[in-house]
Amino acid sequence: MSIFKDDILIGKVAVITGGGGDICKEIATVFSAHGARVVITSRSQERLDIAAAQINDATGGEALAIAADVRNYEELQAVVARTVEEFGGIDILINGAAGNFPAPIAALSPKGFRTVIEIDLEGTYNMTRACFDELKKAGADHGNASIVNITATLQYVGTPFQAHVNAAKAGIDALTRTVANEWGALNIRCNGVAPGPIDDTEGMRRLSPSAESRQKYMNTIPLGRYGTKREISDACLFLVSDASRYTTGAILVVDGGSWLYSPGLGPNASI
Ligand code: HXC
Ligand code: NAP
Repeated sequence: MSIFKDDILIGKVAVITGGGGDICKEIATVFSAHGARVVITSRSQERLDIAAAQINDATGGEALAIAADVRNYEELQAVVARTVEEFGGIDILINGAAGNFPAPIAALSPKGFRTVIEIDLEGTYNMTRACFDELKKAGADHGNASIVNITATLQYVGTPFQAHVNAAKAGIDALTRTVANEWGALNIRCNGVAPGPIDDTEGMRRLSPSAESRQKYMNTIPLGRYGTKREISDACLFLVSDASRYTTGAILVVDGGSWLYSPGLGPNASI
C-alpha cells in the first residue's frame, strides 16, 4: 500500500547507486512500484542480480542490474550508456552508495579516511557528473529531472568515530546545494535525504550492533524508535515527484527527531 498514486513515476527512468543494499533496494522497489524503470548499481553483480529479481517479483517491473564501482568514472559512464541503450535516458538519479565503519581518528589510517571520502563524496560527484547529459535532456524534455543524494545527520554534531563519514556527508550536502544552484536553470533539481537510524540495515548493524547499544540509542530518539526503509523511500519518492517540483537544494531529515535529541533540564525533567 502506498500513500502516493501508483502511476506517478510512469515513463521515468531512475538510476540508483548502492541499489543492491538495504535502503537503496527499497527505494528502487518503491520507485518501480510507482511505474519507474529502475537501474540498480553497486560493486557485486551477484548481489545486484538477487536484488533485481526481488524488485521485479515484488512489482512486476523490469529492474536492470549493472555492476560498477562509484570510484571508477569509466565504469559509471558504462552504466549510463547501458541505461540509455536499454531504457532511452535518465530522469532520476539516487546517489546512495556508501561505506562506513566505526573508528576513532587515532585508529583511522589515511587510507581508511580516504576510502570513505572516495566512495561517498567522490562517488556522488562522479555519478552526478556522469549522468549530466541525460538529466539535462530530461529537464528540457519534461521539466523535472531530479537527483537525490542520500546523506546522514551524523555530521551535524561531529559524531565520534565517524570522522571519515562526517566529512564525506558534509561534502555531499555542500555538493547538493551547489548542483541545485548550477543546474536549476536546466530543470534539474538536486535534494538530499538524511536518514537517522534505520532498522534492519547494514549501516545500523555496523554502528549499533548489540541489543544494548540499540536500546540506548533508541532512548535518545524523540519518536522513540528506529525508522524504516520504507520511510526513507517515501521521502525520496516525494522529492523526485512533481509534488516537490519547486523544491531544490533541500535536505530532508528523516530521523524521528534523532539529531535534535536534548537531555532536557536535568534528571527531574519530565513531561
Ligand atoms: C579501521 C578500517 C576498518 C575499521 C576498513 N578500514 N575497516 N579501519 N577500522 N573497521 C580501513 C582499512 O584498514 C584500509 O586502510 C581502508 O579502510 C580501506 O579498506 P578496504 O577493505 O581495502 O576497502 P574497500 O574494500 O574499498 O571497502 C570499503 C569499506 C567496506 C568501506 C572499508 O567496509 C565496504 O565495502 N563497505 C560497504 C558497505 C557499508 O559500509 N555499508 C554501510 C553504509 S551505512 P589501510 O590503511 O589499513 O590499508 C552508512 C551510514 C550509517 O554509511 C549511518 C547510521 C546512522
Ligand atoms: P548498505 O546496505 O551497505 O548499502 C550501501 C550500498 O553501497 C551497498 O549496496 C554497497 O554494495 C554499495 N557500495 C559500497 N561501496 C561501493 C562502491 N565503491 N561502489 C559502488 N557501490 C558501493 O547500507 P545502508 O545502511 O542501506 O545505507 C544506504 C545509504 O543510507 C548510505 O548512503 C548510508 O550512508 C545512508 N544512511 C544509512 C543509515 C542507516 O541507518 N542505515 C543512516 C544514515 C544514512 P557493494 O558492497 O556490493 O558495492
